[in-house]
Amino acid sequence: MRIDIISVSPELIKSPFEHSILKRAIDKKITEIHFHNLRDYALNRYGKIDDYQFGGGAGMVLMIEPIDKCLSELFAERVYDEVIYMTPDAPTLNQQTANQLSSCQNIIIITGHYKGIDQRIRDKFVTKEISIGDYVLSGGELAAAVLCDAVIRLIPGVLGDETSALTDSFQDNLLAPPVFTRPAEYKGMKVPDILLSGNFPKIDEWRHEQAIERTKRIRPDLLNKERNREG
Ligand code: ADE
Repeated sequence: MRIDIISVSPELIKSPFEHSILKRAIDKKITEIHFHNLRDYALNRYGKIDDYQFGGGAGMVLMIEPIDKCLSELFAERVYDEVIYMTPDAPTLNQQTANQLSSCQNIIIITGHYKGIDQRIRDKFVTKEISIGDYVLSGGELAAAVLCDAVIRLIPGVLGDETSALTDSFQDNLLAPPVFTRPAEYKGMKVPDILLSGNFPKIDEWRHEQAIERTKRIRPDLLNKERNREG
């Protein structure tokens, strides 16, 4: 998968790709990330990329022309499955969206700043708008890093243990069950006996019950979602 990230501050987003799973995906050539600095497409030599909003109001808006120029260059090179815009005024990222994006070949991610980007870019080019939660970040770069992590780890071959992504929280709209490792007892705190029993069908059953109990307690909305999906 190739991901092109268009940003005012590409430096802000580079470091997550230099470590751990994302680095491994790049080293294994499963993923390619290309950063594009919007200032390279600025209107003048002072690097102008934003302006006041029509109609008045505080905050600058990223202008249409630099983004259009950058997109045109990319579109001339290849076909993109999705042009994504990271913004708080959008549907929230979930596992289903991450799964769907993990099968794309080429995607563009536009990150906003200040008051966001000119609406005409959203109307004409953006195919998917994504928020990472109901709060406002100072820019879309960190949100883009979150999206890339959630998507890239799902691409086959990225995680060492192929099955581990399948048992993550949210894959089936349930939170993950609790996990334990050695020692079996620490300062009087014991691992549940069932996990030491070697009875794997019973362990699966226990884990499922725990996942349901946790979901009911912490995120009951997920269970309603599952019910609606079945119905
Ligand atoms: N840009 C600013 N805040 C954001 C959010 N919550 N999600 C995605 N992009 C953003």
